[in-house]
Amino acid sequence: MSEPLDLAAFPASFAWGTATSAYQIEGAVAEDGRAPSIWDTFSRVPGAIDNGDHGDTACDHYHRWPEDVALMKGLGTDAYRLSVAWPRVVPGGDGPVNEAGLDFYDRLVDGLLDAGITPSVTLYHWDLPQALQDRGGWTVRETAEHLAAYAGVVAGRLGDRVTQWATLNEPLCSAWIGHLEGRMAPGLTDLTTAVRASYHLLLGHGLATAAVRAAAPGARVGLVTNHSTVTPASTRPEDVAAAVRMDGHTNRWWLDPVLGRGFPADMRELYGVELPERQGDTEVIAAPLDWHGLNYYFPVTVADDPRGPVPHAREVRLPGVPRTGMDWQIDAGGLEAFLLRLTEDYGVRRLYVTENGSAFPDTTGPDGEVHDPERTRYLEEHLAACARALRKGVPLAGYYAWSLLDNFEWAYGYDKRFGLVHVDYATQRRTVKTSGRRYAELIAAHRALHAR
Ligand code: FCB
Repeated sequence: MSEPLDLAAFPASFAWGTATSAYQIEGAVAEDGRAPSIWDTFSRVPGAIDNGDHGDTACDHYHRWPEDVALMKGLGTDAYRLSVAWPRVVPGGDGPVNEAGLDFYDRLVDGLLDAGITPSVTLYHWDLPQALQDRGGWTVRETAEHLAAYAGVVAGRLGDRVTQWATLNEPLCSAWIGHLEGRMAPGLTDLTTAVRASYHLLLGHGLATAAVRAAAPGARVGLVTNHSTVTPASTRPEDVAAAVRMDGHTNRWWLDPVLGRGFPADMRELYGVELPERQGDTEVIAAPLDWHGLNYYFPVTVADDPRGPVPHAREVRLPGVPRTGMDWQIDAGGLEAFLLRLTEDYGVRRLYVTENGSAFPDTTGPDGEVHDPERTRYLEEHLAACARALRKGVPLAGYYAWSLLDNFEWAYGYDKRFGLVHVDYATQRRTVKTSGRRYAELIAAHRALHAR
């Protein structure tokens, strides 16, 4: 049994949310002027996605969004993190704006506000217009500039109602998994390319931050990054050094430049790739932000791996440690530790957990209910970690559970289910899981606490 949740630790204004992203739920990939993204392309590469799955229909959210907003309202959530699909709004990546694409988000934002749910909009959740990939994608500087132009368009249209903005989701995954490991779009496997991509992603973040602020005065802009606590597998100096490298690769490379420390020197040296830096970029990348979003799923334990790929550290599987259906180690303590690190070490003054959740194979009982005790427990344990962090002074303003719905889990396709709400893809029927009910109960209890 998990410990009872210390609900009093959460301030009255705490935002209880769920999160999704465009390509993972929308479907309607060829409707109303949307052009292909790198994920439409990548999901057609034989063997790239489990079961040959793709996002053509996904959760059909493009058509069913009113039902999905009603689901959020039913759960009692008061915040929702969504992403806007760049290839719907500027299908060519730069150039003409597709008003029909913007109209969709316009309606969705109004629907959310009518339901009393505050939208938090992420501008780039990995779905780069294919037209830009054809011109070099994140390996070229122009893509960063195009991101900013697109960001300005979206903020110009929605900024009268949306105040909470994120530029990028998890640039680590775009750069390292997409350009170094090849397991995500665009499926490249080259260190120089990946390091250049990482640079242009962060530059794009900085340029987009300014563009959003220019288009929507009053906007509160942040960046969403994913992190893991890193522990050496032993006290051997080689393993300890491997953990420092892995921490650099996973955490410092992303946080240091954005939070004013510049790119870490040890990692520059390890990568050995010249950054495409120009004068003034450092300040653009380090533009002061209004908040920071942490996506946390798992910690890692690593050992030295001198012949393995950069960062020459391999993950070690600890025996007897619980894991999710993704084979990710479960450790809510890592969430607390990372929230504290962002606060105490990096000095972040407003934080959100912008994603946290787990995939497990769900079972639908004869009663039609979807029982997911493991996900429920994961949720409770990680909320307890948030409560402990709050008690220690972490300025945590909200939590977005990943995910509202089961959805297209990238290279894993539809087999991996993260939703608080089950989706039957054959019928598009949505069923709130036990975890969703539990989340709703906790939110209601928190509200009652403050209504007294
Ligand atoms: C994160 C992604 C999100 C989802 C979860 C499980 O890395 O941001 O889209 O796939 O993992």
